[in-house]
Amino acid sequence: MQKTAVVLLLAFSATTFALDNGLMRTPPMGWLAWERFRCDIDCDNDPKNCISESLFKDMADRLAEDGWRELGYVYVNIDDCWSSKQRDAQGRLQPDPKRFPGGIANLARYVHDRGLKLGIYGDLGTYTCGGYPGTTLDKIEIDAQTFADWGIDMLKLDGCYSNATDQEMGYPLMTKALNATGRPIGYSCSWPAYQGGLPPAVNYTLLGEICNLWRNYGDIQDSWDSVLNIVDWFTDHQDILQPAAGPGQWNDPDMLIIGDYGLSTDQSRSQMALWAIMAAPLFMSNDLRTLNSGARAILQNKGAIAINQDPLGIQGRRLIKEKSGIDVFWRPLSNGASALVFFSRRTDMPYRYQTSLKALNYTPGTYKLYDVFLEKSLPEVKDATDFVVSVNPTGVVMWYVYPSTKQEDVEPVHLKSKLTRSMFLQKDRKPYSPDIL
Ligand SMILES: *[C@@H]1O[C@H](CO)[C@@H](O)[C@H](O)[C@H]1NC(C)=O
Ligand SMILES: *[C@@H]1O[C@H](CO)[C@@H](O)[C@H](O)[C@H]1NC(C)=O
Ligand SMILES: *[C@@H]1O[C@H](CO)[C@@H](O)[C@H](O)[C@H]1NC(C)=O
Repeated sequence: MQKTAVVLLLAFSATTFALDNGLMRTPPMGWLAWERFRCDIDCDNDPKNCISESLFKDMADRLAEDGWRELGYVYVNIDDCWSSKQRDAQGRLQPDPKRFPGGIANLARYVHDRGLKLGIYGDLGTYTCGGYPGTTLDKIEIDAQTFADWGIDMLKLDGCYSNATDQEMGYPLMTKALNATGRPIGYSCSWPAYQGGLPPAVNYTLLGEICNLWRNYGDIQDSWDSVLNIVDWFTDHQDILQPAAGPGQWNDPDMLIIGDYGLSTDQSRSQMALWAIMAAPLFMSNDLRTLNSGARAILQNKGAIAINQDPLGIQGRRLIKEKSGIDVFWRPLSNGASALVFFSRRTDMPYRYQTSLKALNYTPGTYKLYDVFLEKSLPEVKDATDFVVSVNPTGVVMWYVYPSTKQEDVEPVHLKSKLTRSMFLQKDRKPYSPDIL
């Protein structure tokens, strides 16, 4: 019952009007410089890691050549500290001439030639967070036009050095200005993160109308504490946040730090699984040139990506928070499928968690199970049959769950109601179906 109510609510929220630029019908995927490379501008002493056109070309090469692009990781995104400290004679932003000698338009061409998209960073305020020129209200139109002229595909608009009044004016104005350029540009708004992320200060209906994604909460850092803190904040407020997401409009818990220094293998799987359940944008911030094979396998896990990219675009929820330290997350997927994540908050040893699909609100029937990280199918289970999952400390077990009974018989109520599934499905995306099932 609880599940049905949730899905119904979300089915309706998906009919509200998303930002009408046709972009990001599933969560955007790619690479973003900030968490790993920050504001390193010391190209004299640290040429491989400084914010420069060669860093973004390197990452574009890796995305195109190492199998990322085919999996959907197509955005190469610049963050802060790319620009010159001065605007040009016409009042336009310009890149730092020493670090981006070819200019942004050339970099965009390089990225586009590899079948990728280029994102850039701005800040609605007098300065960016790093102290570079900001986009004050009077500069919104010229900056939108400059980005479009360069061939930019996505803009992250930060909120340092602005106040609530300017943000209320500025974020919607940028939506209009981007639209007026005629170039489809994905729009990431940091607005809610500057207003505490919750109503009444934040209006999620409005955000869905003006932004493709939005940062609700603080920046991620390279540590498990940071990941856990973010997951807890998003989960504690899921009743507010979850209905806000849908095709073209996503909550953004910030970058994937898998492949950096802070997470163990289990914790890396946890971040991937929970970001997939949350329908979160998947922007890696790591060094794709030196990524180890373990991190690569997690980030390139096809099951986790397919769950993240499910065409219904319904964000998942935490169903249960057990006293034992096991949290169970659930996300409804297309074709009557769903994803489950068993997440352990424990720090002692693998925990044997016993439950059944019935206890997790599944309707009567027999279900096929596929373990996403083991990459293999498990024996079918009946809804009432108890099973045990062994969950590592700070780790997850993630399942793709699929009814074995004929689909019509188990189709969730919401798909039969006023809204038919075909209204949600994008024509060019096939729902996930592991070969094994
Ligand atoms: C601009 O907005 C209109 C109407 O909302 C929409 O049809 C059009 O696709 C948008 N164009 C761009 C480039 O975003
Ligand atoms: C917000 O900042 C602008 C300058 O960017 C200023 O003109 C305005 O008075 C400020 N508003 C408030 C309420 O502080
Ligand atoms: C939130 O934004 C929507 C859409 O712009 C608007 O209709 C609604 O009145 C706003 N809600 C509040 C509480 O301001």
